[in-house]
Amino acid sequence: MHMTSERGAATHLHPAPHYSPEAVVAVEGVTKTYSSGQALRGVSVSCRAGEVRALLGENGAGKSTLVKIISGAMLPDFGNVLLRGRPVNFRSPVDASGAG
Ligand SMILES: Nc1ncnc2c1ncn2[C@@H]1O[C@H](COP(=O)(O)OP(=O)(O)OP(=O)(O)O)[C@@H](O)[C@H]1O
Ligand SMILES: [Mg+2]
Repeated sequence: MHMTSERGAATHLHPAPHYSPEAVVAVEGVTKTYSSGQALRGVSVSCRAGEVRALLGENGAGKSTLVKIISGAMLPDFGNVLLRGRPVNFRSPVDASGAG
């Protein structure tokens, strides 16, 4: 296939997205247990600037619980939520939103 571009080589047509090396938001070792049982066990995930993460899982997998913890709607039993590398303890979604 012949590819031409005013910008030059084909490798420049799809530049890698720019990722900051540091995670903007991350959770480390998050565990959450309800009276009904353990919803999250040692969950770690991070998201850098410009990065899109999908959270997939079957019904009851713990997706909403994880998002509630990241967004400050509830606190984890164990583990940390990190904002730009610093542990945070959001008291509410408004609190989390205010932090960016
Ligand atoms: N407030 C609660 N009290 C007791 N158990 C809960 C509570 N919220 C969630 N659970 C239980 O925790 C587990 C994870 O639930 P969660 O809602 O986080 O999963 P989900 O992945 O969002 O599910 P869905 O796809 O159905 O939205 C499930 O077993 C659920 O029954
Ligand atoms: Mg859900």
